[in-house]
Amino acid sequence: MTEQQIQKPSGTDDILPSQQRFWKYIQDKVSKRLESLSFSKIETPIFENKDIFLRSVGPSSDIVQKELFLVKGSSLGGEADLVLRPEATAGIVRAFVENGMFSWPLPVKFYYFGPMFRYNRPQAGRLREFWQFGAEVFGEDDPATDALVILVLWQIFTDLKLQNKVVLEINTLGDKNCQGKIKKTLSKYFDQYRQYLCPDCLQRLTLNPLRILDCKVQKCQTIVASAPQIVDLICDECKEHFKDILESLDDLQIPYDLNPKLVRGLDYYTRTTFEIRDKEDTGRQSALAGGGRYDNLVEQYSGRQVPAIGFAAGVERIIEKLKTYQLADPPSKKIDIFVIQLGPRARKKILPIISQLSSWNFNVNAALGKESLKSQLRTADRFGAGVALIMGQREAIDNTIIVRNMHDGGQETVDLNKLQKVILEHLKDINKKKVK
Ligand code: HAM
Repeated sequence: MTEQQIQKPSGTDDILPSQQRFWKYIQDKVSKRLESLSFSKIETPIFENKDIFLRSVGPSSDIVQKELFLVKGSSLGGEADLVLRPEATAGIVRAFVENGMFSWPLPVKFYYFGPMFRYNRPQAGRLREFWQFGAEVFGEDDPATDALVILVLWQIFTDLKLQNKVVLEINTLGDKNCQGKIKKTLSKYFDQYRQYLCPDCLQRLTLNPLRILDCKVQKCQTIVASAPQIVDLICDECKEHFKDILESLDDLQIPYDLNPKLVRGLDYYTRTTFEIRDKEDTGRQSALAGGGRYDNLVEQYSGRQVPAIGFAAGVERIIEKLKTYQLADPPSKKIDIFVIQLGPRARKKILPIISQLSSWNFNVNAALGKESLKSQLRTADRFGAGVALIMGQREAIDNTIIVRNMHDGGQETVDLNKLQKVILEHLKDINKKKVK
């Protein structure tokens, strides 16, 4: 194997054991919050037919234009009609239609936690494989549902103690009819400046002129500054819808900034769009979460109209913030018991004891290949064990075991029948001393 082959692919990361606690911490908070509001977990395939994303995320998005990971299985004869999912919403809409969820009691509410894949140029905060958690609600078009979805997301950021570090931005893009009008007006406006637009925006001019609004290129931003405003082009109903959401956010005391250029990089949005970003960070990868309404996507797949709204958040970006702000650093997991064996007879007898300890729900570890007491005690110490159990030849014959309190070094020989009780007493004692 070459040196290159034993390196991880660019834009990916190993989630090592030392990092797992951050993932578990976020996953626990997310599922607790969403399940308390009757969101059910859904898992859809990691790869889908390419068409699913072409029809939803849309031809003008960077994701479809540049970032799809094509799956070329050898048995597919090189045909790349499958892609690794760049996001979860499209697959969930596909699952909604395919599983006939139209007949389920509405609203149907899902949440997910899983890896996504975008073939972009890797840089800090931008990976090719990254994890998202997200939520989707089908079957409600009321502005109160928009407010509820934003509230859930805000609550998760509050649960993660990040609410003071982030800002919520919100916008409306109008419904399908309004978007027709907006695109026509913007097209006419941007067409006058055709020669000054960046190559991407020139393409957007034909595919989706709305996307020019959030272009980050300076030249384009100057032109965007005087562009017609979406809010002046949408119908009264869409204005009312947006106003209602803002009122609900005020009532809920969720702070927000209006961002009339918040179009988002996916083509499926109608009406509401929102993002949560780091207050301090103005960079391109500062979005921690984003979402919006997509009232026509189910219809695009099935011909049946079902309004929907959702969000997704980037797990790696959130973990980065938890670390930067030293917030809620989840405690590293310490083991309760380290089991030490001395000699072949003890080693044989120790396995059923380990099994018993695990079924008593203790966290237990051992180094069964090690021989000496000294090295095993050292290992117990490195693992931060509260209690070490030592079984030598004599204990193996007597059906006893030595219980050593790793904090004060005290030890006693205990009958195996009393083991659970004695361990619990020691762990309780150790915890009490730690609290003091
Ligand atoms: P998105 O804005 O493309 O939306 O992604 C959501 C979040 O995923 C971003 O705010 C960011 O934190 C994270 N993210 C995106 N790309 C990367 C990357 N290359 N590396 C690291 N993190 C990344 C969606 O995916 C929509 N499906 C959201 C949605 C759900 N809209 C309605 N329902």
